[in-house]
Amino acid sequence: MARRVFCSFSGLKKPLWQRPAMSCDNKGRVCCPPGCPVWQISVRTPAEAEVAMAALLESLFGEPPAVYVDAETQTIALSIYCQELPRPEAEIRFRLRTSLRRIREDGLKMRVAIRKIRRQDWAESWKKHFRPLEFGQALLVKPSWSQCKPRAGQGVVVLDPGLSFGTGQHPTTAFCLEQLVACRQKGQTQSLLDIGTGTGILAIAAAKLGYRPIQAIDLDPAAVRVAKANALQNRVAKRVRILQCDVTRLPIGSETKFDVICANLIYDLLIGQTKRILSRLQPRGTFISAGILKTQFDQVRVAYAAAGLELIVTRKEKEWQSGAFAFAR
Ligand SMILES: C[S@@+](CC[C@H](N)C(=O)[O-])C[C@H]1O[C@@H](n2cnc3c(N)ncnc32)[C@H](O)[C@@H]1O
Repeated sequence: MARRVFCSFSGLKKPLWQRPAMSCDNKGRVCCPPGCPVWQISVRTPAEAEVAMAALLESLFGEPPAVYVDAETQTIALSIYCQELPRPEAEIRFRLRTSLRRIREDGLKMRVAIRKIRRQDWAESWKKHFRPLEFGQALLVKPSWSQCKPRAGQGVVVLDPGLSFGTGQHPTTAFCLEQLVACRQKGQTQSLLDIGTGTGILAIAAAKLGYRPIQAIDLDPAAVRVAKANALQNRVAKRVRILQCDVTRLPIGSETKFDVICANLIYDLLIGQTKRILSRLQPRGTFISAGILKTQFDQVRVAYAAAGLELIVTRKEKEWQSGAFAFAR
């Protein structure tokens, strides 16, 4: 799944090639009529070389590249778009190849592509990665441009990709959403604590599924802002309490306990904060954990087993393994 991120690198040298004049929108992006072809010069690189590659492209083309991060593989694609190439294609390839040689000597693999694409593809193609997703009959998660209609009684979450994690397309988020659907109990209202809320997707979905009360926390103030805006857009802002908070600072002795806790976090936080997280779980509650690589899952299972929990559901997808736990009876 691709996350769309634009980076800017300031303080760089004068560009080697001055790009031909072209029309730009008020944010300085290249614009031309839909369907008009534009050049895309892109380099795929491992994350370690992102900064060096971005600096190289900016020094060559005089503007920072658009950066796309593949959240699953952590591969980065840096792209420059222009209506006309500032130099013949062969010369650009030669320059890039020469400059890349030094970085490649460090053993990093990179791929350069120079191609003409239709502006419409460039602006719109990333949208095809974000399709409506159904979680049982109960929940539909869709981007705002989708025309998909919900079934009768289905809760709808509208979420567009942005800088925060969580559109429902990632296996770890999808597992948490499925478990939120599965954990509902007929005739009972369940409470939820969402640790590392990102876009707020799990908390918002829980509100649509009837969970009350709902508390969501994230360390990142930008994620908190995004989650609050998404809760507002989905008309659940009054039902979801979203706070900027580091899980490592959650007070242990709190009286407030939750029926369900979701934590889509990295595994060392899941392991290191076992006590803190479980101090918030009701004795008959469910702990849904994700964000764990298959190779790390057993360590998480062992850490929670030591705290008295047993694994009740687990799922492997791609390199990820997720699990739902409950106190052993
Ligand atoms: C993988 S995203 C999960 C987003 C969303 N809950 C989902 O399932 O798609 C992890 C989130 O945890 C947040 N996070 C990381 N460390 C944290 C910490 N120590 N305390 C609270 N949140 C944290 C990150 O900012 C990020 O938004």
